[in-house]
Amino acid sequence: MPAEYGALLVRSFLSAGVDTTINGIGNLLHAFSLHPQEWQKLRNDRSLVKRAFEESLRWQGTVQTFFRTTTRNVNLAGVSIPEGSKVIAFLGAANRGPRHWEEADTFNISRQTSGHVGFAFGIHQCLGQMIARQESEVVLEVLSQRVASINPAGEPQRRLNNTLFAVESLPVTIEPA
Ligand code: HEM
Repeated sequence: MPAEYGALLVRSFLSAGVDTTINGIGNLLHAFSLHPQEWQKLRNDRSLVKRAFEESLRWQGTVQTFFRTTTRNVNLAGVSIPEGSKVIAFLGAANRGPRHWEEADTFNISRQTSGHVGFAFGIHQCLGQMIARQESEVVLEVLSQRVASINPAGEPQRRLNNTLFAVESLPVTIEPA
């Protein structure tokens, strides 16, 4: 493999893998701060750690929208889209689509989350999703052992970002276990 490919690979991991994970963990903690009963559920049953992260991506995903460019003329749900068009996919809307999800607006870490598109879908779906899952699960595993409750301590501030549902600040207080 030519050396410059390695540099490009590292660059794509850094550009795609840092802010996504930081804000993913921020959004996860925000979800729990608003749903103390779900935090207690997790503390009572740590086997829910994996689902909890998936549910946070479904309920309040870090990547709410993503663009695609059509490589040929396509017809989608009766709409014809010419080749070379930019098409925006609303991942966040699909993750709350009532045809797929029951009580879609409810953050429920016991739900079956398969089918969410927080990491998108298809050939270009997130390459680093297993790393993101592992990082978030470690955070949840340790916090759920050491923290009895996560409580809002002010309005969270969002950071404007064209791609990410980002957190500027998330004031919370925690009660140690
Ligand atoms: C919570 C964390 C993360 C979220 C929500 C996330 C989400 C996404 C989404 C929605 C895409 C677009 C996929 C598409 O175009 O269909 C993507 C692509 C990608 N992600 Fe992630 N990501 C996360 C973490 C990471 C990490 C940790 C890495 C690497 C270490 C990573 C590497 C990539 C790469 C390389 C792509 C481009 C894949 C391609 O175009 O084939 N991501 N991610």
